[in-house]
Amino acid sequence: MNDSPAANVTTRRDFLRTTGTFAAASALAGVAIPRVHAAESNTIQIALVGAGGRGTGAASNALSVKTGPVKLVAMADVFDNRLKSSFEGLKGQHADKMDVPEDRKFIGFDSYKKAMDVLKPGDLVILATPPAFRWVQFKYAIERGLNVFMEKPVTVDGPTSRRMFELAKQADAKNLKVGVGLMCRHCRVRQDLFKRVQDGQIGEIIALRAYRMHGPVGSAFSEAKKPEENETLFQIRRFHSFLWASGGCFSDFYIHNIDESCWIKNAWPVEAQASGGRHYRGNAIDQNFDNYSVEYTFGDGTKMFMYGRTMPGVHDQFASYAHGSKGLGVISSEGHWPSKARIYKGHKMTNSEIVWRTPKEGPELDPYQLEWEDLTAAIRNNTPYNEVERGVKASLVTSMGRMAAHTGQIVTYDDILNSDHEFAPGLDTITLDSPAPLLANADGKYPVPMPGITKRREY
Ligand SMILES: NC(=O)c1ccc[n+]([C@@H]2O[C@H](COP(=O)([O-])OP(=O)(O)OC[C@H]3O[C@@H](n4cnc5c(N)ncnc54)[C@H](O)[C@@H]3O)[C@@H](O)[C@H]2O)c1
Repeated sequence: MNDSPAANVTTRRDFLRTTGTFAAASALAGVAIPRVHAAESNTIQIALVGAGGRGTGAASNALSVKTGPVKLVAMADVFDNRLKSSFEGLKGQHADKMDVPEDRKFIGFDSYKKAMDVLKPGDLVILATPPAFRWVQFKYAIERGLNVFMEKPVTVDGPTSRRMFELAKQADAKNLKVGVGLMCRHCRVRQDLFKRVQDGQIGEIIALRAYRMHGPVGSAFSEAKKPEENETLFQIRRFHSFLWASGGCFSDFYIHNIDESCWIKNAWPVEAQASGGRHYRGNAIDQNFDNYSVEYTFGDGTKMFMYGRTMPGVHDQFASYAHGSKGLGVISSEGHWPSKARIYKGHKMTNSEIVWRTPKEGPELDPYQLEWEDLTAAIRNNTPYNEVERGVKASLVTSMGRMAAHTGQIVTYDDILNSDHEFAPGLDTITLDSPAPLLANADGKYPVPMPGITKRREY
């Protein structure tokens, strides 16, 4: 007998088909119908929590899937203006798949609950706030029996990672489908590269290199808050500036290159050492370094080098590479998409050395769309689908490199996993009147990492 939760439930399609006749309904009398498939129509209803740039993009991808009918029915944010512009943007493209009247637009720290309460078990919620809130909202989604799409990173520290590992198991126990926005894993060309590397086409992997170096983007650099602005809302609005909210530019920006490189290596590193510094700060009050260099070590001794820089006027590079004993695998070339993944027979990147490249018969498919086709197909076909554990591992390994740079110490996977520094405890009960998760000193400056001085915590 197959005891897996997946084996004990009907698919959404099966359930509708079966309950479509009186006889079948009678046959089901007394049988506990798993809540996950109790939705009454074939339409997957969707709520968006965190209606910012990516949340709006993810909702647009969700409303574009080809796997079956979907409808956006509720939205939540802490800022009214963000929700309004997201709604207007989506309406321009997807009006026929939206039913979000004013009383299903929710604002505030408890807005996520209200938006999820609109849904029925088996529907889907998009979690696209800064990552600090991920565990809080994921916990409620599981209670409500909802399938989930959550953006990366999924954690920024050890304690919330341990919590998310537990929540991932609870989601499995309820047979919920959960996607994590590390979309490069869904890129078909990189999937082909992964197979080729596992087949030995570049030989044994000797080293990996990853680069995310460009000018200032997002909210990574912030100047002092205006006196009239609420401190917590300021830190949320400028979330790339604050480690509790995002893991800083390191976690938010570098996780993709770190994750895709670990994927191609088919392992997670066990320790990291790193350096970094603050060069041109001007009036900036954020907690980020301007540049980071990390040496990750895998269990078999292989090294992965990650270079991150957020600075204008310097060389830009946004790419990931795997060097093997027989050649070079390019994982990313100039960003996330198109990957332009390819294999060279040596380590010189000249055209004559290319032995495999992105097929020429059409443009590479958009991984941001593919991750939604894959997630909704799993929901409709009731196939196992939970990316949280690997999302937490990617987030932890990213935090491991960040902590190594911020403390100036060698940090192991177990160190970061078992760390007791929770950056923002109590986010499940936060209100506008709560003290902000990070407090500025009398000069309006926040604590910054001090490698070699602050060694056990990042600040
Ligand atoms: N996969 C990718 O390539 C990709 C790209 C961009 C962003 N992201 C991720 O998406 C997330 C959001 O990033 P973004 O660029 O869209 O930021 P954003 O600031 O544009 O959007 C975040 C939204 O969440 C809202 N919000 C914050 N806290 C909230 C709370 N507690 N409850 C409800 N709403 C809340 C904000 O007001 C804002 O509208 C981040 O985790 C980021 O790393 C992923």
